[in-house]
Amino acid sequence: MSQAQPVIAIYPGSFDPITRGHEDIARRTLRVVDRLYIAVAYTATQAKKSLFTVEERVEIIREVFAGEPRVEAVAFRGLLVDFARERGARVVIRGLRAVSDFEYELQMAQMNRELWEEVETVFFAPELEYSFLSSSLVREVAGLGGDMSRFVSAPVLARLKAKLGG
Ligand code: PNS
Repeated sequence: MSQAQPVIAIYPGSFDPITRGHEDIARRTLRVVDRLYIAVAYTATQAKKSLFTVEERVEIIREVFAGEPRVEAVAFRGLLVDFARERGARVVIRGLRAVSDFEYELQMAQMNRELWEEVETVFFAPELEYSFLSSSLVREVAGLGGDMSRFVSAPVLARLKAKLGG
């Protein structure tokens, strides 16, 4: 924040689509960093059937954070640590919703540090009301016609409706 060097962080993920839980993590991060890349991965560690293309997910994140100049939405291929290093980001942000997230997150944090020893992973806890929320649940429930307006913001809702109908 007020250090000589700006603190640049990267928040990587699948974001298919970005939820209010992700947004909450990003906004908390902005309290302690100067710039934040929200980075959509072409290659996710846990492969899932996607709803939006990577390009669509980046566009959606841009719409969601249109009023926040410190946030930049990007897509990346290859290793997260390589992309982070290219962008001068030494802090990786991840959200921890519950203990069940912990093992996977710790494995990724440790592996990323093996790959680049200067990287630090910082975990944020989301607001309690989002602690059960995931993109996969949003995809499923929206696909079955459920109202997702409490869990995703307006640009995401519009894209879900356009993609799924209803
Ligand atoms: O939202 P997700 O799917 O849990 O995010 C996982 C993600 C994208 C952060 C992870 O799969 C990743 O970093 N992918 C990029 C490729 C990579 O660096 N893999 C090694 C991670 S230790």
